[in-house]
Amino acid sequence: MPKVVFHRDGKTFTGEVPDNTNLVVKAGIRQFPYPNFLYGCGMGKCGKCASRIIVGGEHLPEPNWKEKKRLGPRIEQGYRLACQLWISHDIELSQEAKPLADVVAPGAAAV
Ligand code: FES
Repeated sequence: MPKVVFHRDGKTFTGEVPDNTNLVVKAGIRQFPYPNFLYGCGMGKCGKCASRIIVGGEHLPEPNWKEKKRLGPRIEQGYRLACQLWISHDIELSQEAKPLADVVAPGAAAV
């Protein structure tokens, strides 16, 4: 079972999730990382689930078109849309307590 280390607002949350887990789906059914995980649409549109991958990004697939459209150059800084990721390996990630506009790339197209 993949171990997830999640940072937000200066706090660290740790849990294990079943193989092939989507963290937004898990939070949506009120399981870890609920209630601390930020998310919205679950469809790669709102950007609220934007997370910076600290460890384990090499196990993730290449960003899909929704991530590229929403995150733009932030992808180069390690950001991904958690709702677009299915976790099968240990991962460490963070979400920042910043307004969405600061997390999403300036100039990224609104959906
Ligand atoms: S929850 Fe809206 S983009 Fe991920």
